[in-house]
Amino acid sequence: MDSAIRLGVNVDHVATIRQARGTSYPDPVEAAFIAVEAGADGITVHLREDRRHIQERDVNVLCKELSVPVNLEMAATPAMVEFAIQVEPQKCCIVPEKRQELTTEGGLDVCRARNDLAPICARLADAGIEVSLFIEPGAEQIAAAATLGVPVIELHTGAYAEAQDPERQSSEINKLAEATELAVQANLQVNAGHGLNYENVTSILSISSLMELNIGHAIVARAMFTGIAQAVEEMKLLLRNSAS
Ligand code: PXP
Repeated sequence: MDSAIRLGVNVDHVATIRQARGTSYPDPVEAAFIAVEAGADGITVHLREDRRHIQERDVNVLCKELSVPVNLEMAATPAMVEFAIQVEPQKCCIVPEKRQELTTEGGLDVCRARNDLAPICARLADAGIEVSLFIEPGAEQIAAAATLGVPVIELHTGAYAEAQDPERQSSEINKLAEATELAVQANLQVNAGHGLNYENVTSILSISSLMELNIGHAIVARAMFTGIAQAVEEMKLLLRNSAS
């Protein structure tokens, strides 16, 4: 059995290039199929309110045709909940969303937004969708997530990815490891992602209870030179080597 951590490939930035010119290419759906063929365990897409990259059609086609789970990242809004229930991805990851940000800047404040998140999580779960919450690696956020009854959290690895010096990096890894441990004790499945790349991913793999990494920008960036299949294969190899 493959005991390696699962790889969710985020294809948002294939759509970013398409949207830059309003063309029909490159197609993130086609990229997703090639990524799956190359070993991706799941495909992640973020349907943003401003539709800057992924479009409704992309999520629709992926949900209908892909053989691996689709993980739909979405803001906690009524419109997104309705959309998710209609297209039925296997998984939804609720993320905070700001129009001005270049990319998702921080985790959800589950402690503060608990009352708003509760009906949304319940509605998605009732529709058979596995819900995860994208949070910072902190004890309060994990405790709040656990009270919502979601099965999964995704830890934001941005602070680790941005850390420049080795001391800071190892302190961020420790934070992620402690958060993972706490979450596992609370019966949560723990995924992680954001800003991970071919250089910084290896240290993350020391956290053996992590189940899945969601990686987008670095894979799509490498794909410009190698093609998407090779970019996915190279990331999968790093994940597999750590498991052996
Ligand atoms: N996980 C979540 C919740 C995200 O919002 C993103 C960015 O869309 C990622 C993972 C992937 O981040 P990156 O593109 O930096 O690999």
